Amino acid sequence: MQKGLADVLGNARTVAVVCNQWGDTGKGKLIDFLASDWADIIARGTGGANAGHTIVKGDDEYVFHLIPSGILHDANGKINIIGNGVVLDPRALLEEMDQLNRAGYSYSHLRISLNAKLILPHHIVLDQARESISSGKIGTTGRGIGPAYEDHVARRGLVMNDLANRDVFVEKLGKNIACATRELRGMGLDSQIVKSIFNIPRLHGGRFYNETTIFNTPEIIAAYLDEMGPRLHPHIADTESFLRGQVGRQNILLEGAQGLLLSVDHGTRPFVTSSDPSVGGLAKGVGLREKDVDYCFGIAKAYMTRVGNGPFPTEMGGKDSENHCDNHLNTREAEHEKFGEAHVNHTNELLQGIGFRITGKEYGATTKRPRRTGWLDLVALKYALDVNGKDIFLTKVDVLDTCSIIKLATAYQYHGPPYQLGDKPLRKGDVLETFPTDFHVLYHVTPRYIELPGWETPTHAAQTHAELPQNLIEMIRLIEDTTGGNIVGISNGPRREQIIFFDQKERAKIPPIREAIGK
Ligand code: IMP
Repeated sequence: MQKGLADVLGNARTVAVVCNQWGDTGKGKLIDFLASDWADIIARGTGGANAGHTIVKGDDEYVFHLIPSGILHDANGKINIIGNGVVLDPRALLEEMDQLNRAGYSYSHLRISLNAKLILPHHIVLDQARESISSGKIGTTGRGIGPAYEDHVARRGLVMNDLANRDVFVEKLGKNIACATRELRGMGLDSQIVKSIFNIPRLHGGRFYNETTIFNTPEIIAAYLDEMGPRLHPHIADTESFLRGQVGRQNILLEGAQGLLLSVDHGTRPFVTSSDPSVGGLAKGVGLREKDVDYCFGIAKAYMTRVGNGPFPTEMGGKDSENHCDNHLNTREAEHEKFGEAHVNHTNELLQGIGFRITGKEYGATTKRPRRTGWLDLVALKYALDVNGKDIFLTKVDVLDTCSIIKLATAYQYHGPPYQLGDKPLRKGDVLETFPTDFHVLYHVTPRYIELPGWETPTHAAQTHAELPQNLIEMIRLIEDTTGGNIVGISNGPRREQIIFFDQKERAKIPPIREAIGK
C-alpha cells in the first residue's frame, strides 16, 4: 500500500469517498487506488449513469458511468455492488458490461441490489422534454435521473427485482406510463419535438414511440423484461443484507458520485441532482448507517468546476462563462482551435476560465459539455466539511502549476435586493462567511478573495510532502486554517502514482500560515 495511506486509514474497515464540490473532482483515481490496494468490496449508493468516473490504467483510460470503479479488479475476487440508492438504466449497464467484455475484463462479481431503482424510457423522455422548455432548465444530463427518483418517492417506481417478475413489472409499468403520458401531453410540446426525443439511440432510435399513445408499452416490455432482463438476473441480490453482514469483517469502499453541492438535500436547489451524495446519503444508498463509515475522504479540487446551470460565485467570467458553456458548439476541439490565446493567467476572465478548462481537461465525461471553471471557494468547502467531515483529499493541484496568482474565496459580499434568509435579513453590502444554499442569495454575491503567489514550477514528479513547492504548502495550510479541514493528501497528476498521502506527524511541525500572509 502507498506510504502514508495506511496511517490515514488506521483501522478503518468501511471507507467512503465523497465529493465536497459540484462533482468532477477526480474521485475515480482515489477510488481506483483504494479499490486495487485496499478494498474487498466496492459499492455505489447514489445517482446513476449521470456520473462519469475516469480511471487511467497504464496508457488506457476507462470511463464508468454506473458500474463501480473497482470492476477492473473483478478477476481478483473483489465484489462490486450497485446499491439500493442507485437509479439504474439497464441499457446503460449492459453497454458498460459489453465494453468490459471487449477490453477483456470480467464482471462476474458484480451484484445489483434488488431494490435499485429502474430507469425506464419514460424517465429519459420526461427528463429531455422538461429540459427542452428553456424556462425550467436545470442543465441535467438527460439520463432520466430526476424522473426516476420522483417515481420512487411517489411510491410507484419499479425496482431491479421487478425485472424478474413479469406480472409485477407489467402492472407497475402501466401505472408509470399513464402518469408520464399525462405529464407529457400537459406540456403541449410540438409532436415533432416529442418524436425527436424518442429517436435518440438511448431510447433505441424510436422503438418506444407510438403515434397515438405516445409510449409503445409492449415494446418497452419486450426490450426490458424479455431482452435485457435475463442478462441482468444473475447479478440481482440482496446486497443490503450482504453488506450489513460484512461491516467490520471486510474492507468496504463506498464510492460516491456527484458532489455535496449537487445534493437534493444539502445542495444549491433546484440546480441539483435528485439524490443525496453526502456521506450519509451514500451509506443509506447501500443499506448501511452513517456511523458504519469509519473514515471519509472528502474530495476537493484545487479550483472548481460546475456542469449545467445554477449559481457558481467564483466562476471565472461569471454569466459570460455560464452562457459560453451552455453552448453545445463549444466542444473541447472547438475551444482548442478557437481560443489558442486562452491561458490560466489571462487577464480576461472568460479566457482565463477557458485556459483552466483546457489545462485541466474539464469536459464532461458523461455529456462532453465544457465544465464552467472558477477559483476554489472556501466558504462552500467549509459548509461541505460540516456535512461530510473534516478530512480533505485535494486533487488536480498540478493544474495550478503555471498560475502566477492563485485566488481563494474566503467570504461573500451580498449585492442583491433585500431578502430574508431564515432569521437573517440580508441587505446590500452584508458580508457572508457561511454558505447559503439558497440560489436567490448565491446569485447575488461577490466573493472576497485572498490572493496567493503561485509556485510556477511543475509538481508532477513530487512524491512526498517535503518535495512540494513552498507556495503550494502554504496554500494547503491556508485552506486548512480557513475551513478547519485537514488535508490528508493530494493528487498531482493524472497517473496512478501521482498521489501523495501526507505524513501527519511531519506536517504538524510546520508553523501556521496566517503569519506568512499577514492575516
Ligand atoms: P441530473 O443528475 O442529470 O438530473 O442533473 C442535475 C444536475 O446535476 C445538472 O446540473 C448536472 O450537470 C449535474 N450533474 C449530475 N451528475 C453529475 C456529475 O457526475 N458531475 C457533475 N455534475 C453532475
